[in-house]
Amino acid sequence: MELAEQMTSMHPDVSHVIITEEQIRARVAELGAQISADYGDEPVLLVAVLRGAALFVADLSREISSPVELDFMAVSSYGSSTKSSGVVRIIKDLDETIEDMNVLVVEDILDTGLTLKYLLKNLASRKPRSLEVVTLLSKEGKQRVSIDCKYIGFDVPDEFVIGYGLDYAERYRNLPYIGVLKPEVYAD
Ligand code: PRP
Repeated sequence: MELAEQMTSMHPDVSHVIITEEQIRARVAELGAQISADYGDEPVLLVAVLRGAALFVADLSREISSPVELDFMAVSSYGSSTKSSGVVRIIKDLDETIEDMNVLVVEDILDTGLTLKYLLKNLASRKPRSLEVVTLLSKEGKQRVSIDCKYIGFDVPDEFVIGYGLDYAERYRNLPYIGVLKPEVYAD
């Protein structure tokens, strides 16, 4: 087996790959070009939402030719009902103020939309000059609240997707592709 093939060969817990490493690389480059064209010479602050967006923002930032700054937020849900309640707790806030800045929130996946709804409301109250969202993945038919997301990498089916930042029980974030987790891995 070639080295490159070994590096991308499927993990045994993955049932199938839905977006390959090459497809991710090409789409991230397209998104970077689009963002660069939109912001031009204006500085843009990328606000990555930890932890899932860490890999995406690392690659995306290197595809943007506009002046880029980076900051990070970490959020968590209150209790187990977060996904349904939409109540989000800030674990780590931004290090800098964002007033009068062009803020681009970087997410790995838009699922119900509840996390972004909360985050966008919170960030908007800090009076940025502009506020937009780029998400690598958007789950088809899952959004419970409508989110104005300017840049979307890929629409994905409502399956348990992992890799390229996305985890199950903190594992698989380092897979270079997006795959679907075998149900027996997370079955009780
Ligand atoms: C994921 C993802 C988004 C959120 C999307 O984060 O990174 O922040 O869920 O879901 P929603 O649209 O239904 O609100 P997760 O809580 O899994 O944390 P992680 O990024 O640390 O894996």
